[in-house]
Amino acid sequence: MCGIYGIINDKNNQAAQTVLEGLKKLEYRGYDSWGIAIKPLASDTLRVDKHIGKIGEAKTNLPPGSTALGHTRWATHGGVTDINAHPHLDCTKKLAVIHNGIVENYQEIKEELLKNNHQFISETDTEVIAHLIEDKSKNKSIIQAVFETFKTLRGSNAIAVLDLNSQTIIACRNGSPLVIGLGNNQYFLASDVPAFLKETNKVYFLNDGEAVVLNNAGIKLFDLETEKEKILSPQILDWKLEDAEKGGYTHFLIKEIYEQLKSIPKTTSINEKTITEIANKIKSGYKVVLTGCGTASYCTLAAKYFFAKQGIDAQSIPAYEFMPFSKFIDQKTLVFAISQSGETADTLIAVRQAKKRGAEIVAVVNARGSTLERLADTVLSVGAGPEIAVVSTKAFTSQLSTLYLLATAVADRYEQGKEKIKNLGKVLTIWLDKKIFETQIIDLAKKLMDEEHMYLIGKHLNYPATLEFALKIKETSYIHAEPFAAGELKHGVITLIQKGTPCFVLASQDEVRDEVLSSAAELKARGGLIIGISPFESKEFDILIKTPDLGDLTIFPNIIVGQLLGYYLGVGRGADPDKPRNLAKSVTVK
Ligand code: F6R
Repeated sequence: MCGIYGIINDKNNQAAQTVLEGLKKLEYRGYDSWGIAIKPLASDTLRVDKHIGKIGEAKTNLPPGSTALGHTRWATHGGVTDINAHPHLDCTKKLAVIHNGIVENYQEIKEELLKNNHQFISETDTEVIAHLIEDKSKNKSIIQAVFETFKTLRGSNAIAVLDLNSQTIIACRNGSPLVIGLGNNQYFLASDVPAFLKETNKVYFLNDGEAVVLNNAGIKLFDLETEKEKILSPQILDWKLEDAEKGGYTHFLIKEIYEQLKSIPKTTSINEKTITEIANKIKSGYKVVLTGCGTASYCTLAAKYFFAKQGIDAQSIPAYEFMPFSKFIDQKTLVFAISQSGETADTLIAVRQAKKRGAEIVAVVNARGSTLERLADTVLSVGAGPEIAVVSTKAFTSQLSTLYLLATAVADRYEQGKEKIKNLGKVLTIWLDKKIFETQIIDLAKKLMDEEHMYLIGKHLNYPATLEFALKIKETSYIHAEPFAAGELKHGVITLIQKGTPCFVLASQDEVRDEVLSSAAELKARGGLIIGISPFESKEFDILIKTPDLGDLTIFPNIIVGQLLGYYLGVGRGADPDKPRNLAKSVTVK
């Protein structure tokens, strides 16, 4: 939530334009407003440009300068207004502050500052940071003032401060991500790598409790507790610029849906050793608990079915409902935390609680250098590459595929599992390549474009598939799509079905196929328009989107239909499929 991006020593003295372009790459982190502060070359006053709305095609006419700091906002405290947009200045207008997180004690701090006659302009928690630094810098260095201020803040936060006098950017991290990029005599600070990937892949991910000071002389890393300098050891990422570009596609979402043809089979060529080690632990009697939020939570539920098929009783607990069950976790529990970003607040809270109970943590995570990676005892990196669209697609299928491989490894069938996932990649490639298939989805999207309610049913593995399918429709098109276990239907839900109500039936060639078809018949008898997402035909289906028959893995294409349908419905209804309203890519607040 919220994107931070700053540069020191912009090579063309166009720091504001560079920051604007980088912020566009971070827009997925929040798109309520954006703003940039710059120290102009030809002036000794900070200049700020900030506006509500998406940064998309925005331009800025800020003057030339080599140092600038910018922000994309996902509003927490204070409405979506130009004034509440970051950066925020202190009373002297010599400090510009941007922030990702929530300052839980901002009211107390503000009351004290008001007593000292500080003038507040916005309703944000962030503005108190600027004024507190101003206060503290009266009798100490700006660096110490920033460090001290940051240590006063409660909550999970990352801040970045542009100091006009020293032309320095100072940033601190506790709970919200920050990464620095070391370019050719240019230095970058960002919430995520895509902002500066065009310039460098030499990076350092800050840990909680670390701070950096960036200026003409270079970058210094500090430990916030001791305020002592630390050695900075950067790493080279294997990410390519294309990963953070649309590459000819209209939206990141559709690009990432198609990238699954490579990212799913890629899971068979990474993690083998780690998967074997974890599988051995499970075989030796460790309990398996899977947790995550949203799409990642549906992944845990689908994985629970995969594990059950291999004789393992895994628990799936959404991270935001973890606490009541944490008492059952002990030293002989493996807690799998599933996350694209590795920064989701509820997931991290669940993990910290599980750690307290002595559990071993396995992070099944896509983003690199995340808090979750650092908290975990073992990392299963899912390797889907940067996922820029807010709606998760390729990270989800890679996580699911990784957990499928693990489940097969527990049953000593890892090699067969690998072959099945490789085959899945091949079959999906042929299936998705057929234009006829995409035309079918587009036709269906046109038919359903004006609907406001849809219902979905599935049983066993296709139950979590319906949850994920429905979420894609809701997020991307804003149509109310409600998923149910097929068996739930008769217990109340069937009242909602009327003549013409779209009802999706997700099915596979499995042992529950006939039961699902009976449920479809019940929906049909109430007048529902039955849309089968399935490898087989049936008289119950009014419309069929035929998916490849892949046994247990049929849920992958079944879910991909939901991703594509959500995408085309969203485009057709005028929504922005990359940036659904009210959402942000990484949910770093509770
Ligand atoms: C849905 C979606 C969200 C995330 C959830 C967890 O498309 O993206 O439901 O899955 O916010 O995020 P991560 O995976 O980053 O922990």
